[in-house]
Amino acid sequence: MEERAHWNRIGSAYQDEIFDVFRSDRNKLLSATIQKFANTEHTVIDFGCGVGRAFEFLSPSFRSVFGVDISDSLLTLAKKREFNNVTFKQHDLTKPLKASAEFGFCCNVVMLPEVDLNKMMLKNIRQCIKPGGHVVIVVPSLDSFIYSAWQLINWNKKEGTLPEDIDASELAGFKGTKTDLIQGIVRIDNVKTKHYLEPELRVLFADAGFSEIVVNKLEYDWTSEFSNPPKWMKEPYPWDWIVEAGVWEIETSSRPKP
Ligand SMILES: C[S@@+](CC[C@H](N)C(=O)[O-])C[C@H]1O[C@@H](n2cnc3c(N)ncnc32)[C@H](O)[C@@H]1O
Repeated sequence: MEERAHWNRIGSAYQDEIFDVFRSDRNKLLSATIQKFANTEHTVIDFGCGVGRAFEFLSPSFRSVFGVDISDSLLTLAKKREFNNVTFKQHDLTKPLKASAEFGFCCNVVMLPEVDLNKMMLKNIRQCIKPGGHVVIVVPSLDSFIYSAWQLINWNKKEGTLPEDIDASELAGFKGTKTDLIQGIVRIDNVKTKHYLEPELRVLFADAGFSEIVVNKLEYDWTSEFSNPPKWMKEPYPWDWIVEAGVWEIETSSRPKP
């Protein structure tokens, strides 16, 4: 199981290697969105919880938190966090999960390079959410990835370097094939990572059985893309997509398919 081995290897280097969405979120939209669904009588599943960065937001806001992740070593680190209402399970989310909750949270997990496995994950997440429940799911944005590269080209031009003279390593994220790019598969630190377009998310979430789909930008500073961004590089800032979606209260055959 390649995915499990990959995330197990990351283990204790996680804090340095994995982008911290909660800390980088410029407008604190992620914690505010979780608060919209907070209910201390409800259960939340943190799908792909990693080392449990979301627990400090989820644990006080829900009766119980169920942290699920493919990586044993990340779960071992997550268990060291001191929250008394969190339980855990090692599980590959591309396979059905036996669990049930009113709320689901999933941050930068549904981004496998095998695009159909992401569809499976979304369907498996959907199956765990009770009727009337909701999810908040963060995924990388293809628009933002290309926009950041466009800004990189602008920056080079301003400093006298033509696009064709830019060092290939600076645009190494685009190393894949044409069909990779169309499917949103680009590289972050040489790891193939699925990125999404907004209309694509609407289709995929509806296909997975979600309704009330709302897609917003979760913005970060330019330092998330470049170590020393120039002062003129301002808004629009780079972003991930944050998707809020619901599950119909009552499923009837007469209800139009979302
Ligand atoms: C980028 S990290 C994000 C972790 C956490 N959600 C956060 O925001 O800090 C991706 C996480 O997804 C987990 N993961 C990757 N593939 C998975 C799968 N097929 N099933 C369950 N978890 C998976 C990894 O082990 C890792 O913890």
